[in-house]
Amino acid sequence: MFEQPRRRQRQSEKRVSTTIRFAILGGAALLTAALSAMLWAQTQPTDPGVRGIAWCVGCVNGVGTCSSGLHGLNNCFQTGLTYNEKESESAAVSQFTTAAVVGCQTSGSNVAGCGLGPRFNSNSCSSCHQQPVLGGSSPQSNPLFQVYKSDGSDQFNNKMPSFEATDGPVLIPRLPTSDGGTGLVQQLFTIAGTSFPDCTIQQPNFSAETGLVYRQPLPLYGDGYVDFIENSDILNNLNSNLTLKTSLGVIGMANIGDDGSVTRMGWKAQWRATLPAVGSEEQVEEGITNEQFPTEIDQTSGCDVNAMPEDPTNYVYQGSSMTPWLFLADAERDAIFVRFLSTPVPSTASTQNGGVGPGPGCPNQSDNGQSCVNGAADFSSIHCDLCHTISYTTPPGSIPSQGHTQLNLYSDLLLHHMGNCLADNITQGLAQGDMFRTPPLWNIGQRIWFMHDGRTSNILQAILDHSDQFCTGGSGSGPYENSEADAVINNFENLTPSSQQDLLNFLRSL
Ligand code: HEC
Ligand code: HEC
Repeated sequence: MFEQPRRRQRQSEKRVSTTIRFAILGGAALLTAALSAMLWAQTQPTDPGVRGIAWCVGCVNGVGTCSSGLHGLNNCFQTGLTYNEKESESAAVSQFTTAAVVGCQTSGSNVAGCGLGPRFNSNSCSSCHQQPVLGGSSPQSNPLFQVYKSDGSDQFNNKMPSFEATDGPVLIPRLPTSDGGTGLVQQLFTIAGTSFPDCTIQQPNFSAETGLVYRQPLPLYGDGYVDFIENSDILNNLNSNLTLKTSLGVIGMANIGDDGSVTRMGWKAQWRATLPAVGSEEQVEEGITNEQFPTEIDQTSGCDVNAMPEDPTNYVYQGSSMTPWLFLADAERDAIFVRFLSTPVPSTASTQNGGVGPGPGCPNQSDNGQSCVNGAADFSSIHCDLCHTISYTTPPGSIPSQGHTQLNLYSDLLLHHMGNCLADNITQGLAQGDMFRTPPLWNIGQRIWFMHDGRTSNILQAILDHSDQFCTGGSGSGPYENSEADAVINNFENLTPSSQQDLLNFLRSL
């Protein structure tokens, strides 16, 4: 169930004192006040909940059944790819969903999906990226409970840390340097166990660590397009509307990579593009060394069971039977999968099956989608769009179908100070301990958990959590300046309950 937003308590306190004041005015007035309070209570905005989707013709309940795909596969690949581009689909999907095992064969063919550990979080990309379909975010049922004791062939000694819940998001922990940690991801599990008796490394003692911070998986839809958004477009956007931004306290800053360009993927905009993000993910989440990240996370002897890197280019396939996608390393095949994912498809009044699932969404409302239209207008009029920039357009693409495309991603791809309540004290590139990248909101209608640490499943609470005043969780006190979103969230608070509801409906239509 959704937790109650904190703001409700504050307003019901207000309601009690209002009622008391009315009581002294006499019975009739009391009745009026009680009636209006009832009416008020009925109109309080509520999150319509996770919506089902229509990714493509024939999709049911958000599960892709894209029989139009070349290989008839269940996924969300873009339309408009050339025949040759699409030929890689089967290999890319199977790579993304392959559960990696620990041991790699060193002679003959190199198996796809090996090299798990010695420290790892999970054993396949698709385990963490699958809501509502392949390539998405953390699913309703926490996949880590399926993998921590065995990868299917080997048995591990692991215990499940107490911060993971069977019905919660996958949470990846870090211990900030301010709390005596490295600030890097602390892998949850190890391969130690009966299958690898020489490997005796231990899981981190999470219950003894205070100050742990968490991140949940991000959806990957549209990442292939985001790769090619021009640097200059992001920086021009940063420098636009300055008078308005200054009056509202919105600033923003680009995270910058080694080549001077704007890095833009990940919760702190720490990665420039899909391929390096995938290489890093393969190493960090699964412990698989690759050509971009060839260092094993833990080099303790007895745990180094494979030749390095564990995921190399497969030269062995050269010859008469070579196909391009067999020659590639696993990470490159995974990157193809991510790059060719479709951009999310919002639900509109005309896509009647867009609203199936537990949440009503706009299409199922009697007003033919008017509530979402109003909500979209409110989103801009109260200036959510100063950070959640509605769109960028890609330049000409060498994958032609990705060029000249207007991406309605709802993100400036920039970093913002978000206050003490959201701060995680982790520094990445130029991103400071209280800074996060504005996350794209496309696909937010289908997300189960919100914010970097998945702290809420209520989209109303996610909005309130932007603000120093209404945020819950986190310490709330610390060295950081106020959230850049404070004034915009005050604007949200000043909307009528029905306009707030429109805004929530609009978000759940994305
Ligand atoms: C154990 C869970 C887990 C597994 C397994 C996993 N990821 Fe992730 N993924 C995450 C988390 C958490 C983030 C956010 C990381 C951050 O910003 O610190 C993320 C972020 C990403 C991003 C950046 C998305 C964006 O738009 O900013 C990409 C790309 C990605 N993952 C691809 C992959 C691929 C490919 C694999 C398999 C090789 C994989 N992931 C395996 C949890 C996982
Ligand atoms: C100052 C910039 C800024 C403004 C203004 C802003 N946001 Fe955000 N928004 C962010 C950042 C940064 C995050 C991620 C914070 C985190 O994960 O800790 C975020 C997260 C979100 C999320 C959750 C996204 C996810 O992936 O979990 C939603 C929903 C959202 N914002 C909606 C809104 C709405 C609606 C408004 C206007 C009322 C708004 N935001 C105003 C910067 C902003």
